[in-house]
Amino acid sequence: MCGIVGILGKNAAAPGLVEALRRLEYRGYDSAGIATAENGTIRRLRAEGKLHNLADKLAGDMPEGKTGIGHTRWATHGAPTERNAHPHMAGRVALVHNGIIENFAELKRELSSVGAVFETDTDTEVVAHLLARELDAGKSPKDAMQSALGRLHGAFSLAVLIAGEEDLLLAARRGSPLAIGHGDGEMFLGSDALALSPFTSRVTYLEDGDWAVLTRAGARIFDATGEAVERPVKQAAISYSMIDRGNYRHFMSKEIHEQPEVVSHTLARYLDMSTGRVTLPEGFVEQLGRVQRLSIAACGTAYLAGLVGKYWMERYARLPVDVDIASEFRYREPILGPGGLSLFISQSGETADTLSSLRYCREAEQTVASIVNVEDSTIARESDLILPTLAGPEIGVASTKAFTCQLSVLAAITIAAGRVRGVLGEEDEAKLVRALIEVPRLMTQTLRLEEQIEGIARELSRAKDALYLGRGMNYPIALEGALKLKEISYIHAEGYAAGELKHGPIALVDENMPIVVIAPSDMMFEKTVSNMQEVAARGGRIVLLTDAEGAHATGEQPFARVILPRMYQFVQPLIYALPMQLLAYHAAVSIGTDVDQPRNLAKSVTVE
Ligand code: F6R
Repeated sequence: MCGIVGILGKNAAAPGLVEALRRLEYRGYDSAGIATAENGTIRRLRAEGKLHNLADKLAGDMPEGKTGIGHTRWATHGAPTERNAHPHMAGRVALVHNGIIENFAELKRELSSVGAVFETDTDTEVVAHLLARELDAGKSPKDAMQSALGRLHGAFSLAVLIAGEEDLLLAARRGSPLAIGHGDGEMFLGSDALALSPFTSRVTYLEDGDWAVLTRAGARIFDATGEAVERPVKQAAISYSMIDRGNYRHFMSKEIHEQPEVVSHTLARYLDMSTGRVTLPEGFVEQLGRVQRLSIAACGTAYLAGLVGKYWMERYARLPVDVDIASEFRYREPILGPGGLSLFISQSGETADTLSSLRYCREAEQTVASIVNVEDSTIARESDLILPTLAGPEIGVASTKAFTCQLSVLAAITIAAGRVRGVLGEEDEAKLVRALIEVPRLMTQTLRLEEQIEGIARELSRAKDALYLGRGMNYPIALEGALKLKEISYIHAEGYAAGELKHGPIALVDENMPIVVIAPSDMMFEKTVSNMQEVAARGGRIVLLTDAEGAHATGEQPFARVILPRMYQFVQPLIYALPMQLLAYHAAVSIGTDVDQPRNLAKSVTVE
């Protein structure tokens, strides 16, 4: 949700600002803008739409200032126009903002009554006016920042540039992430370490409530009470080379194809291949054995990973699991006894809804564990225990490899829970571990079906609506297939438990309706095939995905049949996720949508 950057450099800041923004475009791409300080004034350039529009503008008119800030926007308040694009300015101040200023209406009224003239519909502009007034009243930049911050409610991060102060940037973090990068006689600001990766890997993560005064000599950091504080300089794990698209047409395609490798890395972290045992932190395993219930909360695709986790843990470990959409979790006031265990799942580790649920659980005295892909994210830092996924940076807005890595960790937790709860014996554990070890190979085999799936996706791309059906642990995979299709191809799609179709949605079925049926070879196969027949009898165009032997004899002929490699039942969700991703990807490519940056979306959703 909006990316912000700042540079106190040795050379013109603008090219570096654009470079850093390119790495933050996943956070929003409704508009982009930069401001640089030069010769006592501020130059600002902004453009509606994607960053390349701004880059085109800059190509003929590159500002020379060595100090600057930049922004890529995911619109909250105010339409995504150039007028509403950041940086926002008032008096000597230019600033960029990520998050929401909740009391902006009240502040706007107050500032307007004393003569401030607003040019935009954004919540952000009030902060620029507040700061400008404090500076006009004779306060130093540091004191002006402290006073202005005291007036703001909401969750935000800010980077501020002041005309005439060419060795100064101000920064603040409350709720939304912000990192300081340490260069050699240069300093940087960015929403994450990815933005800073072209310049430095030495990073300080501001803590919630921190604010900072940066000069080329370094950063002075203050906490919410205004006390000077020390925050460690860390080596960021991310490297510049890890975010290259290589020969792939889209990041999403690259990330789909990386899955055998990154899932293998993630599994290797949690499985001891030589002993056939799962290795998770002892204290965590002990708690899995002791708790009455596990509560999981997450959003979107990560929530669907949690739903697979529920099916797995209840079946293989007899551990009762509640899984919640994080934005609903705390508002339903869940009953959480002291000493309970909560698990949060997040690729970015910054999703506001998931983070609020985590904080809710902390207050309810739960042990907080999280499955995260970004180890220095806020969710990771606020957890008692983190179980990292080793997916590497996921740039495509639609989650793919992070999802299967999350499933890999959940599978390991399931086995550990099954063992400690006395449900799985040593031999059962070894069998499940062996099944997991096969997953990267099965994924590679499944990816070889891409050409066939591409052909089916071309047909699918002509539809206006699509249904996805699955049962048991593959029901969440049907939901994930529908989510992937709608978010990148804009085709309306719904996932259903196969048995539920006849209770209403079957009314939608006609000869124009494609229906993707996940029917693996398990005890549910016959039942799912019956549901498929009910649909086929009404003219629905079935795409059957199965690894069942004899799948050729499934009664009425499906429109298309994809035969996956044979696999152990436990690992089905990990493998069936791949054709879901490929179908959505190729449907979107065939329609010609912006696959990596679909409309209206952002990758890291830091507003509730
Ligand atoms: C869908 C997708 C989103 C995210 C969701 C949670 O493809 O990517 O649904 O899964 O916004 O994001 P994280 O995992 O970063 O908390």
